[in-house]
Amino acid sequence: MGDSCKKAYITTPIYYVNDVPHIGHAYTTIIADTLAIYSRMVGLDTFFLTGTDEHGQKIEQAALARGKSPQEYADEISSKFKALWDEFDITYDKYIRTTDKEHKKGVQVAFEKMLEKGDIYKGTYKGHYCISCETFFTDTQIVDGELCPDCGKETSIVEEESYFFKLSNYQDKLIEWYKKNEKCILPKTKKNEVMRFVEGGLEDLSITRTSFDWGVKLPDSVNDPKHVMYVWLDALMNYVTALGYGTTNEKMDYWPARVHLIGKDILRFHAIFWPAFLMSLDLPLPKHIAAHGWWTRNGEKMSKSKGNVINPKEVADAYGLENFRYFMLREVPFGGDGDFSQKALIDRINSDLGNDLGNLLNRLIGMSGKYSEGVVNSDNVEKYYQAELDEVNESLAKLEPLLFDMQLHRYLEELWRPLSVANKAIDKYQPWNLMKEGKEEEAFALNGLIANILAKVAIMLHPVMPKSTNKISQALGFEIGLDSYTKLIREKGLLAEFTITKVPPLFPRVEEQLLKEVEPPKQEAKPKKEEKKEVSTSGVITIDQFFQTELKIGTIIEAEEVPKSKKLLKLKVDLGEENPRQIIAGIKEWYSPEDLVGTQACVVANLKPAKLMSMLSEGMLLAAKDENGLSLLRPETPKTAGTKVS
Ligand code: ME8
Ligand code: MG
Repeated sequence: MGDSCKKAYITTPIYYVNDVPHIGHAYTTIIADTLAIYSRMVGLDTFFLTGTDEHGQKIEQAALARGKSPQEYADEISSKFKALWDEFDITYDKYIRTTDKEHKKGVQVAFEKMLEKGDIYKGTYKGHYCISCETFFTDTQIVDGELCPDCGKETSIVEEESYFFKLSNYQDKLIEWYKKNEKCILPKTKKNEVMRFVEGGLEDLSITRTSFDWGVKLPDSVNDPKHVMYVWLDALMNYVTALGYGTTNEKMDYWPARVHLIGKDILRFHAIFWPAFLMSLDLPLPKHIAAHGWWTRNGEKMSKSKGNVINPKEVADAYGLENFRYFMLREVPFGGDGDFSQKALIDRINSDLGNDLGNLLNRLIGMSGKYSEGVVNSDNVEKYYQAELDEVNESLAKLEPLLFDMQLHRYLEELWRPLSVANKAIDKYQPWNLMKEGKEEEAFALNGLIANILAKVAIMLHPVMPKSTNKISQALGFEIGLDSYTKLIREKGLLAEFTITKVPPLFPRVEEQLLKEVEPPKQEAKPKKEEKKEVSTSGVITIDQFFQTELKIGTIIEAEEVPKSKKLLKLKVDLGEENPRQIIAGIKEWYSPEDLVGTQACVVANLKPAKLMSMLSEGMLLAAKDENGLSLLRPETPKTAGTKVS
């Protein structure tokens, strides 16, 4: 493994492609981007990874519900995430997708390695499964006998053949890791939670599924084609497959990660499963796993599935991308939750950015223009303002540890102290009076002090606001990068003489809310009572009422048994649409899958999709049943798939 001191590998979660990005995703990605820009600036060999998580039952269902194949759907949403990050100038070095060939190969290699290690065995999983969280739960974990303890949605009962990972073997090793590495999980309060959980005992983890097939297949050497990998094993592996694990190994010298940035919703997967998998693979463990809190709307977690999300692009377009970045990092203590509010955002822009920072630059432009034709140097700054310089340097020295401890709000708070030193110095020494009193040297030196403070703050603020700070450095005649960082921050040096360049105000005041107040979260959609009110009382319906039912001829192109179900078959039926429908039909007692493939049936095509045994069913076959059994209704001679029945 490489010299991890010189390298910084930084990751975000890979986001699910079940819906478009919102400000929660933007938050994690912006924090990671800030750390990556910082790491590059201070000379670390940096690799920044983000991407999308595309397999699993949740994605399969989301795709089917929109009449798309999972791959087609994943392509579409993954490219939306990528487009947003590109638009936001996120400086990722690699964008991984779990449907990438190399990733899938890497996951299979890992599976083989764990098998060799004796960490995998075959058994039967019986318990609850939450599709929304893609998580298994035991009877004791679930709430009210059926609800997911994490998201509150209904779970389904699963009983299927499964390979298991011997997580229980790693309980002691995990605890040892937590204890030996004070900062392995940040913030520390979160680490204590994880530790208590692990001390409570770990059960082995089911790592394959058989009831659907949108996932990474097991390696050929295992020869068990009905299993696909559990999506969390697949997803977590992305952090090393992105570096070539299991294929080229090309970038594995970036491993271990300096930090995995995540939200607290997925801490257990990262702080328990992931290190255990890594131990099984004989790979070193990440330096930090840092879990931030949630952006909420009216106190509720913002989430795709709740439909209460805010579009980060709208916010950035209205208020400025970098203002938005600053706000997100400054407003909420890392690890805590924060309610998104335009008022708070506007306050930050007008007060922190406009008054404290932007105005200071304007004052310097004004004063240096008046007193010295825009020429500013660092002569005599130490002579007259050593106390101020000391205070500034003291604050700056505190910054780096705060950043890597993820205390980003503290970092920015501390970074504003030098600005306050500068603004106070102007009020205290009143350079216009110094000029009147003939103390020009002192007045020029004060400009020098202000310029140096602005320069140092711009360097340290650069990772959060790259473009705005470049404008400041251009005005001050220097460039932000390793050289200026070394000279002005690390060596506490001062700026060379320069002539100031005038720039328009960087942070114009915002006078009013620029976005329509976003609507309160939608209520859970309650089933609407009786859409059309024309109810038949006589048992007779009109022809219009009859035609509200869309009947079509479908060709059954695939059929298979639903494991553990006496009645159900899972069918793929071609209705002449872009993608075949999945229909779960209770006809197993009368038809075998082989008999059905290639035959046709009459299908109710506009039935609201329903879930049966946690599988989506997007239609219903018509059939007639009497004491002799059940028969499907079919056309007498084959008809083109999708032909209307009337
Ligand atoms: O969990 N506030 O993907 P996901 C803050 N694919 N951050 C939020 C947030 C909110 N309201 N909502 C989401 C997955 N996030 C898995 C990850 S990693 C190997 C696999 C952010 O699309 C936060 O970083 O549900 C959270 O952990 C992540 O998005 C979850 O994204
Ligand atoms: Mg989620």
